[in-house]
Amino acid sequence: MMRVIEIGEPGGPEVLRTAERDVPHPGHGQILLKIAYAGVNRPDALQRAGMYAPPLKASDLPGLEASGEVAAVGPGVDDLAVGDAVCALLPGGGYAEYAVTPAAHCLPVPEGLDLKQAACLPETFFTVWSNVFQRGGLQAGERFLCHGGSSGIGTTAIQLARHFGARVFATAGSADKCARCTELGAERAINYREEDFVEVLRAEGGADLILDMVGGDYIKRNVKALADEGRLVQIAFLSGPKADLNFAEVMTRRLTITGSTLRPQSDLAKARIAGELRRDVWPLLSAGIVAPVMDSEFPLEEAAAAHARMEASDHIGKIVLKV
Ligand SMILES: NC(=O)c1ccc[n+]([C@@H]2O[C@H](COP(=O)([O-])OP(=O)(O)OC[C@H]3O[C@@H](n4cnc5c(N)ncnc54)[C@H](OP(=O)(O)O)[C@@H]3O)[C@@H](O)[C@H]2O)c1
Repeated sequence: MMRVIEIGEPGGPEVLRTAERDVPHPGHGQILLKIAYAGVNRPDALQRAGMYAPPLKASDLPGLEASGEVAAVGPGVDDLAVGDAVCALLPGGGYAEYAVTPAAHCLPVPEGLDLKQAACLPETFFTVWSNVFQRGGLQAGERFLCHGGSSGIGTTAIQLARHFGARVFATAGSADKCARCTELGAERAINYREEDFVEVLRAEGGADLILDMVGGDYIKRNVKALADEGRLVQIAFLSGPKADLNFAEVMTRRLTITGSTLRPQSDLAKARIAGELRRDVWPLLSAGIVAPVMDSEFPLEEAAAAHARMEASDHIGKIVLKV
């Protein structure tokens, strides 16, 4: 048996409760991970609130990323062995002592990083890589606007975009958060409570790419902030998914509006993202060029407090659970 945090019923952080479950068995191509730390992500809070159902066959427990030691390997796994230290993207089930995941979704702990930092890599780096670089096609020299610049996603996107030569603009909700965004590589951070990001970007010629998790009235404003031929990649809708939009502007200015969610994608698609991260990004982590921004640590049993901190938006960077 293992200790887990399960969702009693949809609701606020208080519905997260400690329970016991059977330790899962790794199937073909999977490993069993003995979890040391689990990353906390906004989608976990959405799942807890009943707004983000786990995919079929995935664990119903929250938790999309973790680090630890390989405890067992299933048939067909030949590149990982019991005892290997890894961080892993999970289809769910990270708030537990053990979880199973495809071996192809595991990556080594980068040199110089500890297991706590490594737990915070997979969900954000897979999401940023697939949306900013693969889907969004960000190129060196382009103007990139990242909303939620101080989030786990934002702090990663700013660093990677800057490293690959983009001009980075970020929005955040306080002076402290804006300062952190510029330290991480944004040439201009916009406090959205005081300034209009549309005006700032238009004065620069418009954004070539926008990564947005806010939606709502930002959808229309993002379109205004885009340069001709610009791309908008939507990864969440914290302010709602609906907008009244004149699509003539999309047509005449040759804009692209797209988006994705990571979790329901095929194992193969996620393995491809893992392969590119291993080749193009993990060396940057090992060299200290890019690093996870750590906010706070909570014991597994205090997952509810971790969710409350995230939903209060007091954090900068990643929140982690110690298992
Ligand atoms: N599509 C995918 O596959 C995928 C995967 C992972 C995460 N996500 C999404 O990406 C987002 C970031 O995830 P995370 O785990 O990094 O969460 P997080 O750290 O909690 O980030 C959420 C951020 O949104 C900002 N925010 C909230 N309401 C806002 C508003 N009305 N206007 C502007 N900014 C607002 C907050 O910053 P301020 O305090 O500055 O407002 C906060 O930094 C979440 O929405 C999550 O659901 C999507």
